[in-house]
Amino acid sequence: METMHELQLEKGSHHNNTPRPTELALTKRRNIWTVLCYQTISLLAIIYFLWQHGFLTFARQTVCTRADCALQVTNFPQYVIDYAPLVWLDEDETYFPSDISAQVENTHPDVNFSTIVDAPDPLTLDNLDALNKYGNKGFDVFLTSKLDVTTNPIWLEGVVPDSHGKTKGASSCAIIINDRGSGRVDAFYMYFYAYNQGNTVLFHELGDHIGDWEHNMIRFQDGKPETMWFSQHGNGQAFTYDAVEKEDIRPISYSAAGSHANYAIAGSHDHSIPDANLPFGFLIDHTSQGVLWDPTLNAYLYVYNGTDRSFSAGGNGTSPVGAMNFKGQWGDQQYPESDPKQGKPFFGFYKYVGGPTGPWNKGLNRTLTCPDNAIRCIIRTIRGP
Ligand SMILES: *[C@@H]1O[C@H](CO)[C@@H](O)[C@H](O)[C@H]1NC(C)=O
Ligand SMILES: *[C@@H]1O[C@H](CO)[C@@H](O)[C@H](O)[C@H]1NC(C)=O
Ligand SMILES: *[C@@H]1O[C@H](CO)[C@@H](O)[C@H](O)[C@H]1NC(C)=O
Ligand SMILES: *[C@@H]1O[C@H](CO)[C@@H](O)[C@H](O)[C@H]1NC(C)=O
Repeated sequence: METMHELQLEKGSHHNNTPRPTELALTKRRNIWTVLCYQTISLLAIIYFLWQHGFLTFARQTVCTRADCALQVTNFPQYVIDYAPLVWLDEDETYFPSDISAQVENTHPDVNFSTIVDAPDPLTLDNLDALNKYGNKGFDVFLTSKLDVTTNPIWLEGVVPDSHGKTKGASSCAIIINDRGSGRVDAFYMYFYAYNQGNTVLFHELGDHIGDWEHNMIRFQDGKPETMWFSQHGNGQAFTYDAVEKEDIRPISYSAAGSHANYAIAGSHDHSIPDANLPFGFLIDHTSQGVLWDPTLNAYLYVYNGTDRSFSAGGNGTSPVGAMNFKGQWGDQQYPESDPKQGKPFFGFYKYVGGPTGPWNKGLNRTLTCPDNAIRCIIRTIRGP
């Protein structure tokens, strides 16, 4: 019987055209499934890793909206962050928002073109105000580039904001509040760029300088924004909050290519330099929707006391106060005509001018929305160039 059975089985197998899977083949098939399973898990792990590290930005944007990513603050009015401007950098921009401390690392402090030899070493944003004991209480101190500006040092180019609008690794904004009492708070959004490329007039690039502080100011009443200032060269423009363009509740500011003057709309903007004798229309700024920058994502926070003009760190208290108290300039002193970098002026204007003073000198205790100066303060209710 047994042989018979074996025979039949053999017969049966002979009749069947598809070969029977052997033990070996079955094991192989099982192995393939195991390998496929492991490969799928590995692939998912790789995708998750890339997503976590921001390489798959399209995936991230869908899980992190502007509001989700917003800075949450304590010891500082949250509405100052919630209503903070978003800044469109121009599509032709080459000098992006820059790390404020990188300005100190890439410069040495000079007075009258001579380096201060016994300055603190290392000089940082925390001890920068130690320079106020040199050069006329700090006023004549210039943070001077270690490299020749004409060799285009890379640090002057700043940091291009990422897909969230963040200047990664670069603290490029200082948000300063001045509480005026009776519910009125002025919030200054100070934007820092390592380099200002001046306008080109009749093929002459004029008014370049290392270091550039620009700002918007929003005047709040009981936590609600009322008016907004846009800094432009020597002065600027004021608008009502209702008039400015917004993304949700956040006002939009357009930063001009090179000069970083702030405007309420995209396009071309004629501006005249105060006391300049150039005809109107000679100096033109351009703004457009190039890269969107959210200055709050990498900002220092400060509280300014208008009575004694002192700064203190706002929020978690880690913002370097020395940088705000430094009275000197954030870039090179204007080169003399004898310097080959400079050469002769064009209609009285130089290619290179001196670096700017810091936020302390931007009218932080102003009476109106415009800085206190002789120019009439017009609060515009319609957006314009
Ligand atoms: C600056 O230095 C030059 C020479 O290096 C000197 O003639 C001039 O008096 C100095 N100016 C000041 C304000 O110290
Ligand atoms: C700042 O402004 C307030 C209110 O206008 C004024 O009382 C104060 O004196 C000003 N501070 C300085 C330093 O001028
Ligand atoms: C501002 O400074 C003055 C003078 O030092 C002080 O009396 C006042 O309490 C300060 N204000 C705040 C809000 O800290
Ligand atoms: C303090 O807040 C800033 C943002 O305002 C943040 O970047 C920083 O990491 C915070 N530091 C600490 C120690 O929490």
